[in-house]
Amino acid sequence: MRVLVTGSQGKVGRFTCEALVAAGHEVTGVDVARPTYDRPLPGSWHYQQADLTSAGDAYAVVRGADAVVHCAAIPEPTANPPHTVFSNNLMSTFNMLEAAVRLGVTRFVNVSSETVPGYFFPERPVLPVYVPVDEEHPIAPQDPYALSKHFGEQLMDAAVRRSDIRCISIRPSWVQTPDNYARNLGPLLRDHSETSAGLWSYIDVEDLADAMVLAVDSGLPGHEVFYIASPDNVGGRDFAAAMHEHYGDAVAVRPLSRLDASGISCAKAERLLGYRPTRSWRDHLDDQGNARLRPPAG
Ligand SMILES: NC(=O)c1ccc[n+]([C@@H]2O[C@H](COP(=O)([O-])OP(=O)(O)OC[C@H]3O[C@@H](n4cnc5c(N)ncnc54)[C@H](O)[C@@H]3O)[C@@H](O)[C@H]2O)c1
Repeated sequence: MRVLVTGSQGKVGRFTCEALVAAGHEVTGVDVARPTYDRPLPGSWHYQQADLTSAGDAYAVVRGADAVVHCAAIPEPTANPPHTVFSNNLMSTFNMLEAAVRLGVTRFVNVSSETVPGYFFPERPVLPVYVPVDEEHPIAPQDPYALSKHFGEQLMDAAVRRSDIRCISIRPSWVQTPDNYARNLGPLLRDHSETSAGLWSYIDVEDLADAMVLAVDSGLPGHEVFYIASPDNVGGRDFAAAMHEHYGDAVAVRPLSRLDASGISCAKAERLLGYRPTRSWRDHLDDQGNARLRPPAG
């Protein structure tokens, strides 16, 4: 398929382009970042610069694509003014989807977020109702980022109501790349008393990229939402015990698939997409959270 990947200069987009090329798709990457005008490197993808808050740019880049993977966004709410986060994310999603519907794209993969339920960036503290959090969990976002992602998912609902396009929204957990594992997760390994907004869940970027390929190739009709997280938690905590230690009885702990389970359930993605993650923080970090110089034995 001819697949257009937005946000291709970012963390998730770059690895998604690589995985789609490896899976045999013809990939074009799009980002607001400036192109280089040199000869493309072998194995790379065609790149176009576009600001997707412009409907004209969105229509121009979507033309000719069979599938769109929309990764472009400001990826959290704390480093930009709220209206910038909200308008950039919502309008770029609206424009990309509108162009995809009008130009006959058959598959739209919308990168949403684990923050949609609202407990990740709240102004007034709130906890999940139950863990592991799944797609049935109540939604109550407070911040401009989670709201933009929540409304983005609603745009997908409307698109499949009014056209034959098929949509999948992926809610990734906190994304870890080989070069940021130690910086992001190291402190959580060194100090087990530290809590994390995402309840120590994370996703390896290459497992996430594999899930994007599954979503592109999927024949699922309508619009489905999927959490994507690594199956274990950061540091291999006894998850039920850690929840009890930090939150008492405030959050219901449902049956877990493993002792060191993630706070996010990916059972739906396993069932409907065939999601089978293979990476772990253990590939990158030792028990003290320092970067491994070589992979663990075995
Ligand atoms: N990083 C995480 O932990 C995480 C977790 C959950 C969801 N997500 C989502 O995953 C996606 C990718 O995040 P990331 O971590 O790669 O972020 P990133 O900042 O590394 O990459 C995002 C890219 O989108 C581009 N972009 C932003 N607005 C644009 C616009 N209007 N037009 C064109 N390009 C634009 C940026 O230039 C950037 O290269 C985002 O939708 C983000 O919300 C990320």
